[in-house]
Amino acid sequence: MLVNAKYELQPFDAAEALLRQPEDAGHPRTLVVFVGRDLAMGERAASVLKDAAAHLSRAAAAAKFKGKSGTSLEILAAPGAPASRVILMGVGAGDETGGEGGEAAKPFEDFLALGGQTAAKMGPGARAVVLFDLPEGVSAAHDSVGQFALGGWLRAYKFDHYKTKKKDEAEREGPMEVVVALADPDSHSAAMSDGGHLAEAVMLARTLVNEPANVLTPPEFARRASELMKLGVEVEVLDEKAMSALGMRALLGVGQGSEAGIRLVVLRWSGGAEGAAPIAFVGKGVVFDSGGISIKPAASMEDMKGDMAGAAAVTGAMYAIAARKAKANVVGVLGLVENMPDGKAQRPGDIVKSMSGQTIEIVNTDAEGRLVLADALTYVIENHKPAAVIDLATLTGAILVALGQEYGGLFSNNDELADHLTKSGNHIGEKLWRLPMGPAYDKLIDSKFADMKNTGGRHAGSITAAHFLQRFVGKTPWAHLDIAGTGMGSPMSDTNQSWGAGWGVRLLDRLVRDYYEG
Ligand code: BES
Ligand code: MN
Ligand code: ZN
Repeated sequence: MLVNAKYELQPFDAAEALLRQPEDAGHPRTLVVFVGRDLAMGERAASVLKDAAAHLSRAAAAAKFKGKSGTSLEILAAPGAPASRVILMGVGAGDETGGEGGEAAKPFEDFLALGGQTAAKMGPGARAVVLFDLPEGVSAAHDSVGQFALGGWLRAYKFDHYKTKKKDEAEREGPMEVVVALADPDSHSAAMSDGGHLAEAVMLARTLVNEPANVLTPPEFARRASELMKLGVEVEVLDEKAMSALGMRALLGVGQGSEAGIRLVVLRWSGGAEGAAPIAFVGKGVVFDSGGISIKPAASMEDMKGDMAGAAAVTGAMYAIAARKAKANVVGVLGLVENMPDGKAQRPGDIVKSMSGQTIEIVNTDAEGRLVLADALTYVIENHKPAAVIDLATLTGAILVALGQEYGGLFSNNDELADHLTKSGNHIGEKLWRLPMGPAYDKLIDSKFADMKNTGGRHAGSITAAHFLQRFVGKTPWAHLDIAGTGMGSPMSDTNQSWGAGWGVRLLDRLVRDYYEG
């Protein structure tokens, strides 16, 4: 992986020597420089561009470019510049970063987005030099270069596997090759390798979400997840027989109308103290959700190939955690099924017994995700006694009505866990919004015939779904992330041009870094 862009760290001197060499005719060179207010530059950048300075300020004046954060200016064939193309990236020194008026400058935080923007401007095949020399008043956090590269990798990700006409620019031009020039490359190499692992992890999740369900069946998903073995993850795959023996009738019932097979995958990373209770992640992996007998309308039904985004995020997070050898014990569980209508399919009115022993009246076969999660939660709590369990699921359309695609829905029985998740999410830009829970909502899923029913009616659909899950977690600190809005059909951004954004991978990785290591 990581074939879409190559980042190489070099000391300023080496990069400057490179800039003195003539450009390769087929690959005009791009030079990227960070500028603050009124084109303020670091010393190294200013000296590299000194012969072009007059031209650059004239171009900037004509374009009304001031170096404000989030803006950029591209200048072609500037006389005196050591590259055919110069891109000035604004990092908005001054008010926004606190560099003026005597306040302490706080580090510029969004190198991830800047990396994405830069990659978009450079384009496939680019030969570029990025002078990582910041204007006065702008400082960078220790992981900024890694974040910058991560932004570029994520931006350049493309799911074009099934396009047979390789007329695509990226295909012809090959990867972009970027030299990042720094005062001290060695001090950034750890952050770079971190960024690389995260990029691979997020791309893995994106690809899983983007894959169609005729390819990504539950057994195929299990096979791909099993490849994490190469990173030292212990992998266990339960098939129908094994799950049947455990009494997982809630999960199995969802898949019984499909020919595709049903799997439960358990991924274990043991990087923490021996015997210390792990943190557990559980992902909804409905590879396709037709609704079953309570079949969905045809419009946009194809999107339901992404109903496994929770399982994809858990897989990606386990990848990230193992790749960087996190000092934590983590278990990931994927409930993999396909929800189809068929002569053998489960029907409304059916009553099933879950692994926990609780019985469930199926009133709507399209409320299938919670049935999958119920048994997966019971399994991980009984077998791994986790210190906390977090499930991720594209669980309800109602969460899209409430929060749109900006925030994931957060539900929890534990304020501290909810707080940690919110903070880690804010830290990396995958935001969560907590919604209320309470006995009045819980009552809505009581059933006339069984211990509970699988929907609570039209009102508060996301909350009653969370209450359903809560009935399977006992006293274990638990959080449920409803990612129906964020997990698929993602809006395009500086760092994402993919339908499946891999939302949740960086959040879980960050959570482990912030609260479960050391
Ligand atoms: N996978 C869907 C939820 C979903 C909807 C995800 C839109 C992404 C986009 C889930 O299985 C579902 O069908 N939920 C039902 C629940 C209802 C029957 C209680 C829903 O939200 O309508
Ligand atoms: Mn459904
Ligand atoms: Zn679903």
